[in-house]
Amino acid sequence: MGKRRVAILISGRGSNMAALIAAAKAPDFPAQIVLVMSNIADAGGLAVARDNGIETLTVESKPYGKDREAFERAMHRELEARDVELVCLAGFLRLLTPWFVRQWDGRMLNIHPALLPSYRGLHTHERALADGVKIHGATVHFVVPEVDSGPIVMQGAVPVRDDDTPDTLAARVLRAEHRIYAEALRLVAGGQTRLDGAACKVAAPSQDDDVLISPRIE
Ligand code: GRF
Repeated sequence: MGKRRVAILISGRGSNMAALIAAAKAPDFPAQIVLVMSNIADAGGLAVARDNGIETLTVESKPYGKDREAFERAMHRELEARDVELVCLAGFLRLLTPWFVRQWDGRMLNIHPALLPSYRGLHTHERALADGVKIHGATVHFVVPEVDSGPIVMQGAVPVRDDDTPDTLAARVLRAEHRIYAEALRLVAGGQTRLDGAACKVAAPSQDDDVLISPRIE
């Protein structure tokens, strides 16, 4: 079986994109990144993708005004032209219409900086700190029309420390993001996932019974 053809959609610095590109360099990785597409012409990630020899493209939404679907049809044409099979959203800051989500049903992943279904939406780290949670993290999930919902492929948890700021917590979560996004893509592209209602079943070894306890106890 050949490698799945993957496009990554970004709007910004693209550190998750970079992690996916790095992972896909492994000869046994079941996916190849064939396109990085941005809705922002000067998104930092575009240069990183180009430096890695990956085709980049900007499709700006402005010319389409309020017609979100027309903007998405333009993106969709570019994806189809390259025989893209899987789409990874990686800091892509445009809400997608049900039409676009339907086109990529079961074939589009997103990464969210929280342990869903907690902290959907924005400012997840600020909100987690305000609530005083002791464990936070990130989630890779299939995209469905409802924002920050959809079958969960993988999650990474990190401890929250008393002296954390939104920035220090974001940095810790981001390290988890980079690991789980690459591994989740490996599972999905490798055919090791199966959708079962609202859940995603994964044919991968489950974690041992280690408990993550935070704060640490001796
Ligand atoms: C990440 O925190 C991701 O979880 C969220 O947007 C941020 C993108 O960061 N969806 P980067 O562009 O991948 O560095």
